Formats: sequence, structure tokens, C-alpha cells
Amino acid sequence: MQPARIMEILGVAEKAAIACADWNGKGDKVAADQAATTAMREAFNDIDFSGRIVIGEGERDEAPMLYIGEELGRGGEEIDIAVDPLEGTNLCASNQPNALTTIAIAPRGALLFAPDTYMWKIAAATDCGGRLHIDNTVAENLQYLSEELGKPVSDINVCILKRGRHDKIVEEVRAAGARIRFIGDGDVFGAIATAVPGTGIDFYIGAGGSPEGVLACTGLKAIGGFFMGKLDFTIDKDGAEKRARAEKMDGLDFDLDAPLTMDMLVRSDDAAFIACGVTDGEMVSGVTFMDGSVTTECVVMNAADKTVRFVKTCHRGENGRVRFN
Ligand code: FBP
Repeated sequence: MQPARIMEILGVAEKAAIACADWNGKGDKVAADQAATTAMREAFNDIDFSGRIVIGEGERDEAPMLYIGEELGRGGEEIDIAVDPLEGTNLCASNQPNALTTIAIAPRGALLFAPDTYMWKIAAATDCGGRLHIDNTVAENLQYLSEELGKPVSDINVCILKRGRHDKIVEEVRAAGARIRFIGDGDVFGAIATAVPGTGIDFYIGAGGSPEGVLACTGLKAIGGFFMGKLDFTIDKDGAEKRARAEKMDGLDFDLDAPLTMDMLVRSDDAAFIACGVTDGEMVSGVTFMDGSVTTECVVMNAADKTVRFVKTCHRGENGRVRFN
């Protein structure tokens, strides 16, 4: 993606983060999500491009804004967009770390039209020479990582969403002797963090939202990490209906039960992932309001030029003062 386009999309992520940061710690995740979604949609519509939501707030009949298939912008270059306007609604509502506004962009047709259900995911900084695989046992994947990262399995830190469905995985990780970093929410961060030195996370495993899977995969593709997914319609209570709808989807061009590789999820090297911190986190800081100005911090992972940029922005407003920290 061209730097100018990236800067525009970065502005969208910032506006959404500022809008929902007002709700940090206020206990209302619905209002927070709505604020982010409304701001994001308005900001996209101010751009000279032909944006199309491929992953968004849901299907047209269930989401008034940023629904799948919604066309955005004032016209121009055709771009596909995946969004989770507020990734970690609970994290924002309870002022916990790593709530983010997240956007992935790619040329038209490049992002998988993933059905809005659950996806099993594994992620790491490396594919261990092609050996990591979602169908491997946990012990096998940890062993390959241990060899590749040059440290014993007992020092490998595995990030897992704290959910009952992960009890068996937790047992397997414990049996292998590795460490676990539980997170309450926010597996886009959890997966991408595996490839970000300093987070202390080496491996991500578990089932979360499939939209979040495509977003995380875009970031990992841009920074040279590894991701693999597999859809699971059995976790959702209306999963059978979702599966039936997905099977009838126009242009469905992949096996719904197959492992999804990075190149199936993101079919272009010209994709970018942008996230803006809402609450403070390990990758980016959250929004701060001080001296009449607002400060935001974003991370931009661009596969096209293989860059990762951390962009701290002071929004001065009318009378705000610029701050250096
Ligand atoms: P929201 O931002 O939509 O609340 O999602 C947070 C999240 O933790 C995601 O990161 C994750 O993929 C998903 O929820 C897991 O779903 P569930 O809470 O149903 O297990």
C-alpha cells in the first residue's frame, strides 16, 4: 500500500480510538463499540477511495454500520477492508490493557471473505521451516518452536484466551512444561505479539473470532510472522445456520473445513495492518487527553515495503498544547 493511503487509514484508526477512549473504564462495552464504529465509518467516507468492507460488524441485516459488503469512500482506488472497530470491547469498558482499533487493507479480492464464526488459530514469529501446523499436537508445535527459537520448551510462553473451550489445550501445554500467559480478550494482540520482540509471547493458540483471525494474519504477514487458522462452526450457538449460509455464499472458493494458510487468508503481499491503542498496552499506548490535546499511538505493519511504523500523534485541536511525552 502506498504511504499516502496508509496515512489516511491511520487517521481512521486514530479517530475511532479517540471516539471510544471516552468510554475507557465506563463499563459500557456496547457504547464504546458504537462510538468506535460510527467514527470509523465517518472517517472512511471522507477518503477518496472505493472501500469495501469484507470483514466488519456483521451481515447487512444485523449491523447498521460497517456491515459486510458496505461500500465506503468518495470513489477511487478499489480497496478491501477488514475492521474490528474496537478489538477488546470488554478491555475498553474495564480499562484493561491492549484494547485496539484495528483495520486491515488490501487490494480488491485479497482478503478472505471469512464467515463470522469461530476460528482455531496458531501464531508464532516463525513457521519453523514449515513444521508448525494447526493439525499438529500442542506438544509437537512447542517442540518445533523450541528447536527454532533455541530455548527449552519450559521457557516458551504460550498466550491463550481464558475460555472453557481451551481447557484441553491448557492441559497439553502444562504437560509439555511450557508457560502460559492467559488473556481475557483481544486475540489480535495475542497472535501478533508472538512476532513482536519484547512482549514475551512466543506462541498463540486457541479459538477466537474469525474476523480477528484475518486481521491478525494480515499483521503477521506484514511483519514476517506465521499464522494458520481453521474455521469451527460448532462453537457458535447458531453455527449450523452460519455454515449453511456460508456454503451458499457467492464465490465461496475454499473448503470450509480446511486449514487456512496465510496466503489463503491474505492473498496479496500488498496488504497492511493498522492498529491504534485505546487503552495502554504492550504494543502501543492508549489515548491520552491532556492540556487540551489528544495523543494517540498507532502501529502500522505494511507488507509492501516490509516496514513497521509506530506513529505517535498529537491532535492539537483548537487550543491544545503539543506534548513530548
Ligand atoms: P470483542 O472486541 O468483539 O469484544 O472481541 C474480543 C475477543 O476477545 C476477540 O479478541 C476474540 O477473537 C473473541 O472475543 C473471542 O470470542 P469469545 O469472547 O466469544 O470467546
